[in-house]
Amino acid sequence: MTKKLSIAVLAGDGIGPEVMVQALQVLRKACKGIDIDLKECLVGGAAIDATGKALPENTLEVCAASDAILFGSVGGPKWEPLPPNEQPERAALLPLRKRFSLFANLRPAICFPELAAASPLRLDLVAGGFDILCIRELTGGLYFGKPKETRQEGTERIAIDTMIYRDSEVERIGRLAFEVARTRKKNVVSIDKMNVLENGLLWRSVMKQLAGEYPDIELSHLLVDNAAMQFIRSPRAFDVVVTENTFGDILSDELAMLTGSIGMLPSASLGTGHRGEFRFGLYEPSGGSAPDIAGKGIANPIAQILSAAMMLQYTFGLDEVARGIESAVRKTIASGYRTRDIFSPDTKLVSTAEMGAAICENLG
Ligand code: IPM
Ligand code: MN
Repeated sequence: MTKKLSIAVLAGDGIGPEVMVQALQVLRKACKGIDIDLKECLVGGAAIDATGKALPENTLEVCAASDAILFGSVGGPKWEPLPPNEQPERAALLPLRKRFSLFANLRPAICFPELAAASPLRLDLVAGGFDILCIRELTGGLYFGKPKETRQEGTERIAIDTMIYRDSEVERIGRLAFEVARTRKKNVVSIDKMNVLENGLLWRSVMKQLAGEYPDIELSHLLVDNAAMQFIRSPRAFDVVVTENTFGDILSDELAMLTGSIGMLPSASLGTGHRGEFRFGLYEPSGGSAPDIAGKGIANPIAQILSAAMMLQYTFGLDEVARGIESAVRKTIASGYRTRDIFSPDTKLVSTAEMGAAICENLG
């Protein structure tokens, strides 16, 4: 690879900056010999404090000129008194998703065999671990549909959110699910609410139609309420699941909880945009800014580190380098290193920095 990889680094608030330091260290070591250009910019509460805006113009410009965004986390109690539309989560994350058409949100829910005891599920349900990839549509549905407003009608207020999907939006996320499934166990479960919603009928019919183009992939369908149940009953039965925005928001939290360790889970939000051969994407931990433990050096950096690995895979096509980081993480877990969130007796309690250093050490 001779091209320079240009990456916007948005650490944000809470534990964001401290886990980002570890991720960048791992990234630099894993990418030795590859030309990477990291540009750090402000986002979230930190950006509000410095510039008055959660997503300053300069940050947007740097992102637009980069191949990918490595994102930390935003938000915290300090900014909670702000009006809802100015809060870091809404004023930074949602506009970034929309601005860069980040329509596909990939949230792996991986329960490492060594950490199965951390799952709230009975051990016989999770023994040996599980590996589910939740693919959530991210720029449509209730989140962005218009009208979206609260208005006065007579003596009371009415609130309206609009759920809207068009064929093409379902098709592009469905296609991505099939393509990704090809690199895994070739099994897709599509989740909808076709027994009640027009959106569900459209979703299912597009998925069925697409299935014809992917005869090597096994497709099945679940209603969303049933899916919520089946995840708990048999998480090991799932490979790739794909669903619309709001369902995906809820189900991905459920799946994260089932792994027992939100501090381990990365995510990728992929866009339609390409710069040359690179597909634009934003990569961030699935967990939040965790203000309660920020600054204490105890946060788990693995979600941020694995987010960097996803970036190498999905934007830069450096699958082998990504695999290298993943196996360094597995090796570190297998050798008993644990940050506080995943600690159990007979393992070695380490800090954020010690975990990062151990993973670096275990890199090929
Ligand atoms: C997530 C978050 C966001 C969402 C919030 C912070 C707007 O919950 O990324 O899952 O609902 O998408
Ligand atoms: Mn969420």
